Amino acid sequence: MSNFYFIDTKGNKTYETSAYQWIGDDGELLDLWFKPKISQEKFHQKKFSLWRYLEFLPLNEAKELVSLGEPITPLVEITFLNGFTAKIKQDQLFPTGSYKDRGAAVLISFLKMLGAKHILQDSSGNAGASIAAYAAQAGITCEIFLPADTAPNKILQMQAYGAKIRKIEGDRAATAKATLIAAKGKVYASHSYNPVFFQGTKTFAYELIEQLNFIAPKAVVLPAGNGTLLLGCYIGFSEMYESGLISQMPKLVAVQTSACNPLYRKFFGLNPMEKINKTLAEGIAIPDPIRGEQMLEAVKKTGGTFISVEEEEIGATWKELAAKGFFIEPTSAATIAGLLKYAANTADSSETVSLFSGNGLKSSDKINQIIFNS
Ligand SMILES: Cc1ncc(COP(=O)(O)O)c(C=O)c1O
Repeated sequence: MSNFYFIDTKGNKTYETSAYQWIGDDGELLDLWFKPKISQEKFHQKKFSLWRYLEFLPLNEAKELVSLGEPITPLVEITFLNGFTAKIKQDQLFPTGSYKDRGAAVLISFLKMLGAKHILQDSSGNAGASIAAYAAQAGITCEIFLPADTAPNKILQMQAYGAKIRKIEGDRAATAKATLIAAKGKVYASHSYNPVFFQGTKTFAYELIEQLNFIAPKAVVLPAGNGTLLLGCYIGFSEMYESGLISQMPKLVAVQTSACNPLYRKFFGLNPMEKINKTLAEGIAIPDPIRGEQMLEAVKKTGGTFISVEEEEIGATWKELAAKGFFIEPTSAATIAGLLKYAANTADSSETVSLFSGNGLKSSDKINQIIFNS
């Protein structure tokens, strides 16, 4: 018997989990109702991967897990040029080069458990690469919709995994629209609609707390695009807090860029954005995140805040980290620029943690711009 089900975000209607159910019948977003019983003894002591937390994932009926060898990502202490020191989780070390593998490993295992044979997904980059890789590993065929101007290296990576690519002219919203039409009656392995993706990203919170000897940090600084990590962290920290495993909820600090900061503006009651500008941080340039209200609520409930960073700060932070030997995606440098800004404006920024969300190897176009101004 399943101990989880889908529930619409207004809380009115519940649905048995099915691979085809990624949205409520009346168009409501779905959450997963799942209350795993959390205790330290249930951590799988012999598995040094995200499957260490398998007991807390909605996979109790899975005959096999779809895995590419997800590491426990190192928590590295870095001292920045301004003297500030923070612990940074190295999520760029995942098999496809980003933390999205956390969500994809769990979502594709879940869809396989439910019998999916073909999936579709839309993404402008890393989520598509993750879903394509895990679908390949699972023997599930996969179609990815993406904006025609997506970074060529990211398209190449998805093609390499055997995904069928559907390039859509226009902006990210045009791709989302085309996908929603194509997804009717199909298995839509969406990283923002399907709530099971967030069950995977919540493993970031579990790992972090274990690495910190079960003492919650005061704040965690996270990217805020579609909120897949932010909301996953909110779920994970809440589960641990409610079960008494940690004694405080970390503040969630969400980073956007001035080029595209719809939630930052809402949070501080500013006028809405008029247009999106070009940004080095393509991964968080989401003008209308579908779970935006949930993201705002998670930040508010934890006493956190939003930070908006400038292009110059992203470039300078990227260069500072590269000079230390870290080759990360410019989107990841935006998060770290946000961390530095948060630290500079917060009385007690000790015990603040963040992450490198993606590997630089597939962002040569943006990195060229940073290094050579081209
Ligand atoms: C490298 C990287 N960092 C951060 C993000 C932000 O994503 P989200 O807010 O959905 O967690 C993305 C999204 O694609 C990404 O690729």
